[in-house]
Amino acid sequence: VITRDDLAARDAADPLASFRDAYVLPDGLIYLDGNSLGALPHEARARLHDVIDREWGRDLIRSWTKNDWIGLPARVGDKIGRLIGAAPGQTVAADSISVNLFKLLAAALQLRPGRTTIVTEEGNFPTDLYIAQGLTGMIERLGGPAFQIRYADPLDIPAALDDDVAVVMLTHVDFKSGRNHDMAAVTAAAHLHGAVMLWDLSHSAGAVPVELDGCNADMAVGCGYKYLNGGPGAPAFLYVAERHHDAIDPALAGWMGHAAPFEFSPDYRPAPGIARMLVGTPPVLSMAALEIGVDGLIAADMDRLRTKSLALTGTFMDLVEQELGDAFGIMTPRGEHDRGSQVSLTHRHGYAIARALIDRGVIPDFRAPDVLRLGFTPLYLRFVDLWDAVAILKDIMDSHAWDRADYKVRAAVT
Ligand SMILES: Cc1ncc(COP(=O)(O)O)c(C=O)c1O
Repeated sequence: VITRDDLAARDAADPLASFRDAYVLPDGLIYLDGNSLGALPHEARARLHDVIDREWGRDLIRSWTKNDWIGLPARVGDKIGRLIGAAPGQTVAADSISVNLFKLLAAALQLRPGRTTIVTEEGNFPTDLYIAQGLTGMIERLGGPAFQIRYADPLDIPAALDDDVAVVMLTHVDFKSGRNHDMAAVTAAAHLHGAVMLWDLSHSAGAVPVELDGCNADMAVGCGYKYLNGGPGAPAFLYVAERHHDAIDPALAGWMGHAAPFEFSPDYRPAPGIARMLVGTPPVLSMAALEIGVDGLIAADMDRLRTKSLALTGTFMDLVEQELGDAFGIMTPRGEHDRGSQVSLTHRHGYAIARALIDRGVIPDFRAPDVLRLGFTPLYLRFVDLWDAVAILKDIMDSHAWDRADYKVRAAVT
């Protein structure tokens, strides 16, 4: 049986415990949604004030070179690369995940002309599917080939592969269940059929160690505002393995991806390397905040974070079973190699329960139709938070506090 004292002892022995002080965490709040919007680092507040007052306010346009604003996408990208096993020169911070998916899918199809199948899974994040549908639909309407989007069984990706597959596009850690794909094995299977492997790392970057170069992955996208703590709407990132750079003619050929943007040439000439995947002017304030968020993860070290993350998610699942019996289904796999840094509980009244939790100071989120999703960010969560959150959940279930009409009306964002 796990007790609160056991968990307090784990906090006392936690090598990452001091990192909590680096984040703004309101008193009395147990924040289990760092997988949707990471907490604010104190240093980001200071850095943004400096960027606003000194760099923007005083240095003005000179900041593009004096304060290296122009270098932000590559610099922040290379720092993110350290978290995802990407050697420098292959990752940039830019745009949103959706836009980056469009850029990379277009590039991947271009690398495999003549092939007309995209393999993904039905449960992939909807924007991933929509971008594939939108891009292939547009190619068809322009008179190009008809594409098939093939939905693989997530537990048996190889069964969906053949030599017509141009690209396999999967999310590494599933947004709903928290289940992991085996990146090395799936990438190898895609390559066996000559397909390009494109990973969505939205729920992986900063949450689980990733080895893109080590797995021989071709392309990846990921999120700045979740585990990387880059702030609301933070720029996303994209990765393309160096071996592909020269072969890509970007579909979004913007001036920031030009070989010499300040020549103002009327003709597009792609920049050498990953820079050709940039499109327009970087959002400097958001990039500056993202850089601070990423620095925090580099300092904490992904292996230490993973060790604590597995302990947090494993202990939380044990506690839910201990305190709540079978009141909830546990959708997240138990195997340590099989899950990310979230726990997904299923319940018919999941949305109302999430609302009741929020009113009691425990913040989860909800994913239709019935998933109560709890994210565990090892940078700033304590083991005692697990106990306190489960105690509040138990009280809500025992007292039926969730059973209120106003909790059943869905807000615009869940
Ligand atoms: C797996 C996954 N892909 C893509 C997105 C969408 O990202 P964006 O809004 O930056 O396009 C999300 C957002 O939560 C996500 O979880």
